Amino acid sequence: MLNFFRTVKYTPNENRYDAMKYRRCGSSGILLPAISLGLWHNFGDNDDKKKYKKVLFEAFDSGITHFDFANNYGSPPGSAEKNFGKILKKNFAGYRDEMIISTKAGYGMWPGPYGEWGSRKYLLASLDQSLQRLGADYVDIFYSHRFDPLTPLEETMEALSSAYHSGKTLYLGISNYGPKETMEAYEILKRKGIPLLIHQPRYSILYREPESGLLDVLKDNKIGCISYSPLAQGLLTSKYLTHIPKDSRIANPNGYLKEKDLTPSVVKTIKKLQKIADQRGQSLAQMAVSWLLQKKEITSVLVGARTQQQLQELIRALENIEFSEMELTKIDQIRSGI
Ligand SMILES: NC(=O)c1ccc[n+]([C@@H]2O[C@H](COP(=O)([O-])OP(=O)(O)OC[C@H]3O[C@@H](n4cnc5c(N)ncnc54)[C@H](OP(=O)(O)O)[C@@H]3O)[C@@H](O)[C@H]2O)c1
Repeated sequence: MLNFFRTVKYTPNENRYDAMKYRRCGSSGILLPAISLGLWHNFGDNDDKKKYKKVLFEAFDSGITHFDFANNYGSPPGSAEKNFGKILKKNFAGYRDEMIISTKAGYGMWPGPYGEWGSRKYLLASLDQSLQRLGADYVDIFYSHRFDPLTPLEETMEALSSAYHSGKTLYLGISNYGPKETMEAYEILKRKGIPLLIHQPRYSILYREPESGLLDVLKDNKIGCISYSPLAQGLLTSKYLTHIPKDSRIANPNGYLKEKDLTPSVVKTIKKLQKIADQRGQSLAQMAVSWLLQKKEITSVLVGARTQQQLQELIRALENIEFSEMELTKIDQIRSGI
């Protein structure tokens, strides 16, 4: 009986493209789902395999075609790519051409001076390692994960360009770059005849850094924008209003969200935002996703989900992405109180 279940093949939902919305990424030929799934937390060796498989199947069944990684995702680092690679081979075999798989390099991945930042040596070695873990010949998007102030940007972009010409990545992206560095990266790649497809910044109702120049650069140069941590890692939900739940990211010793992030002013802000979400008939998590999607600059909202139910809830945000001017102003006022 057990063997029977082990060999049961996953068959994707036939109607998976009916409800999801797709948005053009900058001026490229690529459409991304309004909601994409990131595998930073929840898909590593220390996570529940049955649970994360369900999340991945739910995503693909709902038209989420984009799965986002970095070399170091999962605990231990690299395990998210490795675990997804197994599922790609076993369950998603035959569907690779329906997927946009991205990975990144920039943060610490292996010891010594060649295991992080933006050198050609590190970036190209890391991409090879990611492909090996994913069991894939290519990724769709390869990102420089952070700007390296000590490596010439020309070298970092030259490395991305080599990855592009080798066919190991189809498109290029940058993440966590400020507006000035983004403009420079865009110009360097342009001189090489390669488009910069996408930028991946942190952006949410709580954290607004891209509003200080980055969104303008992206819009003016028709570069796509996929916003990460749209729920501020779970702060923009009702879960932390009374206590820290045992299964939450803050309670997880491998989680990047820490108890110190849950300041009294953040809790106060969440409570006020919750009231607006209630009036809209949405959960706070849904409102956080909808708020990003009402912005024209946003191509896709890159969510993390630990359970199938969480993902289902986030996808239902698509049912209402309209905001009145009054709601937007109120949200901005509440947020500026942090
Ligand atoms: N480029 C970069 O530097 C960078 C950095 C960070 C992230 N990212 C990308 O962005 C992706 C998403 O980041 P993130 O995981 O921080 O995103 P997030 O969507 O802000 O947070 C995800 C967490 O929120 C909670 N959650 C999700 N849906 C929920 C729901 N419906 N109700 C209640 N709680 C819910 C879960 O936390 P609990 O476990 O507490 O339930 C989940 O693990 C990453 O996987 C990665 O691909 C990129």
